Amino acid sequence: MNTTNQTAAVPGRRVAIVGTGSYAPERVLTNAELEKMVDTTDEWIVTRSGIRERHIARADEATSDMASEAALRALESAGVKAEELDLLIVATVTPDMPFPNTACFVQKRIGAKHATCFDLEAACSGFLFAVDTARQYLLAGTIKTALVIGAEKLSSVTDWQDRGTCVLFGDGAGAVVLRAVDGERGILATVTGSDGSLTELLNIPAGGSRTPTTHETVDQRLHYMKMVGREVFKHAVRSMGEAAGRALEQCGLTVNDVACVIPHQANIRIIEAIRDRLGLPPERFFVNLDRYGNTSAASVPLALDQAVRAGRIKAGDVVVLVAFGGGFTWAATVMRW
Ligand code: UT7
Repeated sequence: MNTTNQTAAVPGRRVAIVGTGSYAPERVLTNAELEKMVDTTDEWIVTRSGIRERHIARADEATSDMASEAALRALESAGVKAEELDLLIVATVTPDMPFPNTACFVQKRIGAKHATCFDLEAACSGFLFAVDTARQYLLAGTIKTALVIGAEKLSSVTDWQDRGTCVLFGDGAGAVVLRAVDGERGILATVTGSDGSLTELLNIPAGGSRTPTTHETVDQRLHYMKMVGREVFKHAVRSMGEAAGRALEQCGLTVNDVACVIPHQANIRIIEAIRDRLGLPPERFFVNLDRYGNTSAASVPLALDQAVRAGRIKAGDVVVLVAFGGGFTWAATVMRW
């Protein structure tokens, strides 16, 4: 695991989130509807995952459309104009197209004409990896304002005949505006890690250069997400628990200092296991997976924006963001709000 500490060009400077926004498509798909699509029950889905419903994008709604909505809301809450953005990163596993990058589509849509735009792919950890990347630019002093978005149209890579995965995922987007600030608030430490020996446990096998799309790959449904759920579960608990603990240690804090944890929203049982590992009560964790399911890179920023707007996070609070995803990849960020 890697830890990124203060390397500010201006000593004492930190990078802070100065605005948040999110977006979820209008259409809600309930467990009762899924009961009619695959051999499953509301009871199984709720007890095994905690998910009750998820939002699904329209057929004509792409990842960049949802990302742009979240971005505009984040800019509004920060009081920042799109033209002020120097950097725009979209974390996603469901880009509009293999290229151009999704961030360029967002740039055009919101008018961020001075921004450098690229996508970052680290599955469900992508948003936190992207925040850490933007943070390095900001600490180095080479840019002033960054927009980081996590956005996914997972419904486009979900196998709606596979009950083991289709009940878990949803669509949405979350965004944050980042700036370097003086004073107490801002990101205190970030821990990131990867384990490329376990790529087979969570992936989309076809559609890339290894196995380009053919009629056969489509017939075999290899363009859809595959997951060995039970294995992923175990690694998610261990990696997120360790990463959160290490990130707190890095900034000399303990779990007692933490006001709110925003975990990746994959499964309530994973969140409960991390809670037990860290020894924190349920009320210190923000959970929205019952209404959104697992939205991969959008999961943490979507939950963060809702927690902020619901008044769950206040100025001065220590907040921990923690995620885990395919790769495997994982990350934890500790910040003072
Ligand atoms: O975002 C990236 C990270 N992703 C995650 O963190 C997801 C991690 N994994 C999980 O959340 C859980 O492993 C799942 C929710 C995916 C599955 O829960 P589980 O308790 O690990 O169940 P399982 O996969 O071991 O399956 C248990 C049983 C199986 O039947 P048998 O073999 O015991 O007869 C499955 O076939 O449940 C069956 N099953 C279902 N039954 C009803 C699997 N999916 C369903 C379903 N409805 N939708």
